[in-house]
Amino acid sequence: MLVRDAVESDLDAIFEILNHEILTGVNTFKLDPLLADQQQAWWKLHVADRYPVLAAVDESSTMFGWASLSPWALHVGGYHRTSEVSIWIAEPFRGRGVGKELFAALIPRARQIGFRVLLSKVEASNQASLKLHYRFGFRDVGIMHGVGDKLDRQLDVAILERDLSQVE
Ligand SMILES: CC(C)(COP(=O)(O)OP(=O)(O)OC[C@H]1O[C@@H](n2cnc3c(N)ncnc32)[C@H](O)[C@@H]1OP(=O)(O)O)[C@@H](O)C(=O)NCCC(=O)NCCS
Repeated sequence: MLVRDAVESDLDAIFEILNHEILTGVNTFKLDPLLADQQQAWWKLHVADRYPVLAAVDESSTMFGWASLSPWALHVGGYHRTSEVSIWIAEPFRGRGVGKELFAALIPRARQIGFRVLLSKVEASNQASLKLHYRFGFRDVGIMHGVGDKLDRQLDVAILERDLSQVE
């Protein structure tokens, strides 16, 4: 497995993974798949020197998963040293260490870019995501109770933070 910067031609694979999750899971509260124009807008936001997207691929460029940095609050300049993490592994490849490979690359990259804090929103019962975050030094900030509604469930969201000045 190789972790590399995503390129525009990865967009179909990126959104195949995310749109599947949107339609079938509660790990994103988005309800509708992102269409081509929304995918392009997302890509334009993810400039590699500031908000990179990393792809985990095999030798033939089949994508196992991806992880990205995004603005925590778009157009709110005072948050410029803080970034939000997203990570999505294609269903057949979960639980095989792909998430760990991506975080192992993403966290130093975030520090190198100059971010001070990473934040993450995790559906509160998502044990795989919580474990992954804890393994990479994220700490609990707190729980937002009952903020989400999807697939006939009322959902809590855990906020986690990673202080990038701490090397763990
Ligand atoms: C959450 C996710 C990114 C984790 O990536 P992954 O490649 O499946 O996880 P890894 O194999 O790298 O394992 C990471 C840690 O989670 C644990 N883990 C993996 N799958 C698990 C599961 N189903 N239940 C409990 N723990 C699990 C692993 O044991 C490992 O912890 P450890 O090193 O302390 O043993 C991935 O499962 C995923 O994309 N899930 C759906 C989308 C999602 O939840 N995205 C995150 C939104 S916040």
